Amino acid sequence: MRRLTAEHRLHPAQLVLPLFVREGAAESRPIGSMPGVVQHSLDSLRAEIGRAAAAGIGGVMLFGVPEHKDAIGSGATDPDGILNVATRVAVAEAGDALVVQTDLCLDEFTDHGHCGVLARTASGELVVDNDASLERYRDMGLAQAEAGSQLLGLSGMMDGQVAAVRDALDGAGRTGTALLAYSGKYASAFYGPFREAVVSSLQGDRRGYQLDPANRREGLREAALDIEEGADIVMVKPALSYLDVLADTAAASPVPVWAYTVSGEYAMIEAAAANGWIDRERAIDEALTSLVRAGADAILTYHAIEAAERAAGGGR
Ligand code: PBG
Repeated sequence: MRRLTAEHRLHPAQLVLPLFVREGAAESRPIGSMPGVVQHSLDSLRAEIGRAAAAGIGGVMLFGVPEHKDAIGSGATDPDGILNVATRVAVAEAGDALVVQTDLCLDEFTDHGHCGVLARTASGELVVDNDASLERYRDMGLAQAEAGSQLLGLSGMMDGQVAAVRDALDGAGRTGTALLAYSGKYASAFYGPFREAVVSSLQGDRRGYQLDPANRREGLREAALDIEEGADIVMVKPALSYLDVLADTAAASPVPVWAYTVSGEYAMIEAAAANGWIDRERAIDEALTSLVRAGADAILTYHAIEAAERAAGGGR
């Protein structure tokens, strides 16, 4: 009776798996704060794409871990940079089985670890230069589209980033490359393990460009601006602490709304389960179902493959 009357259920096609790919790696390496998640080599990436396709998930989101970083994140726009190389490998492996998506942000590629390029203010302070960063994002978007990415994940939180990348793509005739805007992206402690996953060089924090966790209306406003600029999909991130923002956005958005349940949320479930404090599988499925209930059309989750396998088997 409960199965018959359930208002919401998970489907494999609505799950997206984030994947880290490390330049120069001969084999995959574990990430300490994310048990079960690894930095992939190109070979292990191929194998993981095969598993993801077999599980029937909707897509993968690629992140690059480059060997060298510099002030402007040159590796992001280099066709031979790790993210662009990994994209070509993933697209070749995935075929039509799933949608290959890429993180469009400079933080993995900059030696200062910020999402944009820096500039000095008149008073001598180093800050992220919004408009100079947009120029880098345009080039990064073109490089990713060229490599075969079908959906660009704009996660840098620069004002005007959706319009800028859309304009660059359209100017190059890339009208079929879609944009996923991280709209309600909050400055969060729950990104902690991700910093280990991508070997982040970040000094300071991202409060200059990510949203304040205290602000609910602002999340909705960011989504409205991104839709106006041409976003094909908008996203809320993190997920579990932002269900109100997710529900608001889902109620108002004319485009699909996604949620990203982030590294720290993954780590909390895994750590508690490893201690025997919670039922791991039930906790994973409950958390994901709560995101669908709040209005997420699709979810980025490091648990995508196993959740899809359970969902395909009718759930628990
Ligand atoms: C930026 C980016 C971040 C995450 C996804 N894209 C890090 C940040 O904004 O600090 C975090 C994802 C996670 O924690 O799982 N490239």
